[in-house]
Amino acid sequence: MELTFYGHACFSVKTQDKTILFDPFISPNPKAAHIDVTTLAANYILLSHGHEDHVADAENIAKRTGAKLVSNFEIVSWYEKKGIENVHPMNHGGKWKFDFGTVKYTNAVHSSMLPDGSYGGNPGGFIVNASKSFYFAGDTALTMDMKLIGNSEKLDFAVLPIGDNFTMGIEDAITAAEFINCNKIIGVHYDTFGYIEINKNEAIDKFKSRGKELILPEIGETIKL
Ligand code: NI
Ligand code: MN
Repeated sequence: MELTFYGHACFSVKTQDKTILFDPFISPNPKAAHIDVTTLAANYILLSHGHEDHVADAENIAKRTGAKLVSNFEIVSWYEKKGIENVHPMNHGGKWKFDFGTVKYTNAVHSSMLPDGSYGGNPGGFIVNASKSFYFAGDTALTMDMKLIGNSEKLDFAVLPIGDNFTMGIEDAITAAEFINCNKIIGVHYDTFGYIEINKNEAIDKFKSRGKELILPEIGETIKL
């Protein structure tokens, strides 16, 4: 499986012949100015919650590519009103089999208002079981619920927020990695704006001292997992 990081909490995974894009926030992100949103491929767009820094480019990419938009019921309904018909609504704890594998919508402790102030349902994350199994936590605090994921899933890697202030910081993300029983962590949701700046080397060392690998890809970088 290939993972490409597009900055903030946006990344895509390529599994067999399908590209799944998560939380597209690229065109408003000055750090991702070298990414051309108009050429990004997507068969699916998965949105963890309604905040602007997770959905900014979703409408344009969905309309251009015809990708299926997957999120909670409220967010999906909001996009349907914008003319996006290829959608799949989910809610917490539910799992669905798509043509690339299964997706489960997980709990997140956060908020989820949509960019125009509409109600965005409750925020979530995703467990994807495809050629590899992984967990994308979305924006969340550390939760005891993550232990349930560790009990039931064999994860190859996880994508966790590490920037603190709005989400877990580094210490809590390491505890989350322990709860979900996963040693390979891709860190996201850091350095985009002032409140979430981190010291990358220090973060990598802290993970290493607890027996975990923290991977921080460059924006635009593709890694094999
Ligand atoms: Ni958020
Ligand atoms: Mn966010």
